[in-house]
Amino acid sequence: MKTLTAAAAVLFTATLSATALAEVPMDKYNKSCAICHAAGTAGAPKTHDVEAWKPHLAKGEETLMKSVHNGLNAMPPKGMCFDCSDEDYKALIEFMSTPAK
Ligand code: HEC
Repeated sequence: MKTLTAAAAVLFTATLSATALAEVPMDKYNKSCAICHAAGTAGAPKTHDVEAWKPHLAKGEETLMKSVHNGLNAMPPKGMCFDCSDEDYKALIEFMSTPAK
């Protein structure tokens, strides 16, 4: 019965991590947002630079989501992430606008 218990434990852990909320899609960050936001290219608010993000966050989530979908000045539509969902964008924005963990 020992193996069965171990298998059940593994299954349980796997289910837990799969349902974790707002997982930051780092692969999507690295191949899109990071191109500009990692170094602050073309005036992009830098990742983890809380001060730089403040005036953007102040616009409210709805406006930020619109900016990402439609593009804003030097930022191209969708931030160059064409397979990002709204959930992905929200997680990415939170990741970029908060201090490094
Ligand atoms: C080609 C460069 C580039 C890429 C790629 C890019 N951004 Fe941006 N982003 C910018 C620039 C430049 C600004 C500042 C625009 C301004 O305020 O003039 C910006 C601003 C933003 C803002 C603030 C919008 C606002 O209304 O103030 C958000 C949110 C954002 N980016 C999210 C993202 C996300 C999420 C991704 C990846 C999916 C991404 N960006 C990819 C260049 C980029």
